[in-house]
Amino acid sequence: MNYQSQSIDLLPFVMIICKTIQEIRASETNLTFRKKLIGFVPTMGALHNGHISLLKESKKACDITICSIFVNPNQFNDKSDLARYPRTPEADIKMLEEAGCDVVFMPSVEEIYPKADTRVFDFGVIDKVLDGAYRPGHFNGVAQVVSRLFDIVKPYKAFFGLKDYQQVLVIKKMVEQLQLKVEIVACPILREADGLAMSSRNTLLSVEERKAASLVPQIMQEAKALSTHLPLEDIKDRLLHVVNSNPLLKADYIEFCDADTLQPVTEIKPGKKVICLSAIFSGKIRLIDNLFIN
Ligand code: PAJ
Repeated sequence: MNYQSQSIDLLPFVMIICKTIQEIRASETNLTFRKKLIGFVPTMGALHNGHISLLKESKKACDITICSIFVNPNQFNDKSDLARYPRTPEADIKMLEEAGCDVVFMPSVEEIYPKADTRVFDFGVIDKVLDGAYRPGHFNGVAQVVSRLFDIVKPYKAFFGLKDYQQVLVIKKMVEQLQLKVEIVACPILREADGLAMSSRNTLLSVEERKAASLVPQIMQEAKALSTHLPLEDIKDRLLHVVNSNPLLKADYIEFCDADTLQPVTEIKPGKKVICLSAIFSGKIRLIDNLFIN
């Protein structure tokens, strides 16, 4: 028998759970991760199949997949939103184990922020519009935690969902500004059977709010269908009216934007990708969605 060929890959699968930076660094050393390509999936937990789809992409593209679960207080501009954010660590661990995640990193707030993170990022226009305008400080907090996690995990590739389209642009800009060596991979939106984008926050919806929420993907599809023959401004007004006429729904915004710059557009020009983005409350729960319309 050639003992040389025995490798970690032949051992029974055990997912490693790390709570400290020291533990994650030790596990990386023990498993000789340094010669392996690390794929990283940062999350805030309350996992669903949307998160798992990122994990599957990572497993396809990398040797080792690390998933982090950390509800980052710095990105919650609304403290009641932070307080009610769902936390399901046992179910998360089970899902990750079943999906073949190699390492899960579940740090405490003190581990990530031993002292207050006072860094202020400037991503130009990208983080000033849409959710950047409606959730002041949100993307700064996202950039703080993701840059910190990248520094700890040192991934080769990191996987993000296009569900948070503006977040993907912000992270790409951050990687460029900080000259990090990680490759950002953007993955498609996973949806429920009725089209609602999967989200940890969906579990907080009452039965009625969940029913009303199914209008969100419908109006995104309608935006796309109407865009071939109506001015974008008219479509926006019509859809805002439809949403706000429902007593359970209230729109923060429905916007048509240039997909690269996120600047609002009023018409579709050849060679320019246009994306429709929405943020709509169903009851107290804020749901975001987006769809490329050309
Ligand atoms: P969270 O909302 O937990 O999402 C973690 C990742 O899963 C993000 O990249 C998000 O875009 C992706 N995701 C969520 N729902 C998805 C869906 N339906 N289909 C595909 N991907 C989906 O986004 C965050 O956490 C945080 O801001 C984080 C990046 C972890 C920083 O704290």
